[in-house]
Amino acid sequence: MSLFGTNDEERTDLNKEESRYVRARSRRLLGTLLRPMRPKLVAAIALVLVSTGFRVAGPALIALGIDWAIPRALVQDFTPMWTVVIVYLSAAVLTAILTYFFLMLTAKLSQAMLFDLRNRMFVHTQKLSVEFHERYTAGRVIARQTSDLESIGELLSGGLNELVVGGMFMIFTAGALLLLDPTSFLVLFGALIPLGLLTRWFQVRTNRGYRKQRVASSRLIQYFVETMTGIRAVKAFRKEPKNQEHFGELTETYRKHNAHLIQLFGIYDPGLIMIGNTTVAAVLLVGGFRVLEGDLGIGVLTAAILYARRFFDPMEEIAIFYNSYQSAASALEKISGVLEEEPTVPESENPVEFKDAKGNVRFEGVKFQYSTGPIVLHPFDLDIPAGQTIALVGTTGAGKSTLAKLISRFYDPSEGRVTIDGIDIRDVSNKDLRREVVMVTQEAYLFSGSVAENIQLGRPDATMDEVIAAAKAVGAHEFILSLPDGYDTDVNKRGGRVSSGQRQLISFARAFLANPAVLILDEATSSLDIPSERLVQHGLKTLLKGRTAVIIAHRLSTVTIADRVLVMEHGRVIEDDAPMTLAAGKGKFAQLYSSWKASQV
Ligand SMILES: Nc1ncnc2c1ncn2[C@@H]1O[C@H](COP(=O)(O)OP(=O)(O)O)[C@@H](O)[C@H]1O
Ligand SMILES: [Mg+2]
Repeated sequence: MSLFGTNDEERTDLNKEESRYVRARSRRLLGTLLRPMRPKLVAAIALVLVSTGFRVAGPALIALGIDWAIPRALVQDFTPMWTVVIVYLSAAVLTAILTYFFLMLTAKLSQAMLFDLRNRMFVHTQKLSVEFHERYTAGRVIARQTSDLESIGELLSGGLNELVVGGMFMIFTAGALLLLDPTSFLVLFGALIPLGLLTRWFQVRTNRGYRKQRVASSRLIQYFVETMTGIRAVKAFRKEPKNQEHFGELTETYRKHNAHLIQLFGIYDPGLIMIGNTTVAAVLLVGGFRVLEGDLGIGVLTAAILYARRFFDPMEEIAIFYNSYQSAASALEKISGVLEEEPTVPESENPVEFKDAKGNVRFEGVKFQYSTGPIVLHPFDLDIPAGQTIALVGTTGAGKSTLAKLISRFYDPSEGRVTIDGIDIRDVSNKDLRREVVMVTQEAYLFSGSVAENIQLGRPDATMDEVIAAAKAVGAHEFILSLPDGYDTDVNKRGGRVSSGQRQLISFARAFLANPAVLILDEATSSLDIPSERLVQHGLKTLLKGRTAVIIAHRLSTVTIADRVLVMEHGRVIEDDAPMTLAAGKGKFAQLYSSWKASQV
């Protein structure tokens, strides 16, 4: 099994109930997209009906011309001839004009829907909780926003028009033939049986084929994104040959599915042509005998042949529509899946007032597990008085980051509650919580833009002087000045590239500027080398002053500035005391501390 594709939307073997649910979900989405466009939609339908009427009038007018106007012209009465020609031309011109308006209108409609969908996707995925993004992966979000939206766009801007215009044309053509010559209509009607059978066969096969092709293409994109986003690890571990091989397998699967689809078209298209030509021949044969017997005018026969001939014209387009429909439908299914995801940490509907927080953090009977996984934090209570600096230490996987994520409400506890100053953080608005709780992680992500802008993110209304003061406070000012454009250096441009340690200093300045009541540093100093860390120590003290802080660090030098140390193991806090008290004792921390001391000399 690959790393991907285990999620329900990407499986090809949904059971009946699941498929019904998924289809209903896409219909709901389609409904909400179409609702605001209803008046325009009605206008478009009216336009296509009228223009198809004019278009289909052509052969009937020719019949009129042959059977009525020509005989009259033979006796020097040219009025019918001119009438037919002028009406024929007018119908043609009107068809062209109405088709123009129809196409303009549907283009506007489809682009408006696409615009709406694109924005909804962005706004919604951005709003979803960390839990969603950790589970869904960036590659799949990218696939939704790119190839899926594209296939919906293709359907809306081309396929759907073809279907409506083509379908209307076929219905009107058959109707006109029925009115003009019911016998020929019956012949055409007979052709519908092989046409239906062939099309059904084609639909079932291509349906399956397209599903496979899309899964293959989405895996390709995901693998590509994963490789490129992890390119450093790929290179570090010389994973290129293996990746190349795997990518080769993925492209081969994709190629195979595509080739199979092309083969299906290779059977369907000639089949269509065969049925069409046979029908024309049959209409000619049956009609020819009736002309001989004097039952049918030559003009009507000509029109019947033209109708029979033209009837099949849109069929090929409609068959091709079917693929774009299939891929758009499945894209819509997946997009509707994302759009119906609810944030797992929803914002409170009527948040309580939360200002000037002191920063007393409490865990009350908190237990935590990631969705249905094993228990990561066993039920515990913890009280962190306002202003205290806590250091969390413990083995990898002990649950330190998870505990930190609960304070910043990336997740909600499975049981119990987390409070700040006695208020359940679930009752606090996102805006207030983000202002009062700031988490700095090892990634120390920088957005494209200048250094100053990146610091200013901490408090968007801060002045340049405040930005510089923050940088000075954490000891980032000097290195920023040494960048090519100082504070205006673009961190993503050549020359503006900063080291990971410098990135962390910038994110410290950002946090300092934000001035939260509670600050969490998750391995935030781990990218710093020992000398830089010494430099940062001083900045760190400034950063921690006057606020509650939780520091997760594996360097004990950082830990010693804490008021209190919590040692975690397997989801439990096993030691909890002042660092020097713990160091003097006999526990885990004492062991760590003495070996660290030994390495210092
Ligand atoms: N997003 C996640 N989904 C499921 N399990 C997770 C997730 N993040 C962490 N875990 C699991 O939770 C446990 C604690 O992880 P974590 O809090 O990151 O540990 P630490 O930060 O102490 O190294 C680990 O067993 C880890 O596998
Ligand atoms: Mg961690």
